[in-house]
Amino acid sequence: MSDTIVQMEDVKKIYTLGANEIHALNGVDISIKKGDFVTIMGASGSGKSTLLNMVGCLDTPTSGTVKINDIDITELNDDKLTTIRRDNIGFIFQQFNLIPTLTALENVEIPMIFSRMPPNERKARALHALEQAKLEIEYADHRPNELSGGQQQRVAIARALANDPPILLADEPTGNLDSKTGKIIMDLLSQLNKAGTTLIVVTHDPKLAEYSNKNIMLLDGEVSDDIN
Ligand SMILES: Nc1ncnc2c1ncn2[C@@H]1O[C@H](COP(=O)(O)OP(=O)(O)OP(=O)(O)O)[C@@H](O)[C@H]1O
Ligand SMILES: [Mg+2]
Repeated sequence: MSDTIVQMEDVKKIYTLGANEIHALNGVDISIKKGDFVTIMGASGSGKSTLLNMVGCLDTPTSGTVKINDIDITELNDDKLTTIRRDNIGFIFQQFNLIPTLTALENVEIPMIFSRMPPNERKARALHALEQAKLEIEYADHRPNELSGGQQQRVAIARALANDPPILLADEPTGNLDSKTGKIIMDLLSQLNKAGTTLIVVTHDPKLAEYSNKNIMLLDGEVSDDIN
């Protein structure tokens, strides 16, 4: 078995808006190994989120191939894509994307409801994920508006960890946090990486690139620099 976990070959993504074509990705080749900590940087509009969404099976390329664990996901239908996503991917967003009417614990249980896990096991795993994300247990029954930004992002990280995914993706996970809280969240992600999770983080902050062992710079939908 190869130790490559994510492989992109000549990936292009063209969005059509009316008469306009937007070339969001313009022939991207990347290769990510198991256990890598990769940061993706580049100006606004350079294609960072487009690239991450493809690795996360949330979007498919116009042409080229994307392989997760040697499986070409560009050939798969929506059901199969959902399975690949469930078994491989945890996704963390800049806006946390928590459901406001649910408690921290219930938010973490959501992906496991989708994977039809029995309620007792679901709750135990959600509590474990909150512990991994270092949210103090007394906040488990708080709703998002009763939590700080850093605490909300911990809940979102716990939710991403719930299915124990080998690949964790984060799109500007510290973008809505002050720099001190941002550093705490990056330290947490870094610990998860050291424990074996492959981590791919989109960031605007050059300081965060220091955490990774590989940095990919995007410029107008192309890899301009790929530093190991
Ligand atoms: N669903 C869409 N429909 C049309 N165009 C899109 C869509 N999503 C992204 N784009 C365009 O594709 C290009 C790349 O967008 P993308 O969101 O990947 O950039 P980004 O590097 O993540 O930027 P930012 O740092 O602002 O988040 C941009 O020109 C954007 O306007
Ligand atoms: Mg983006």
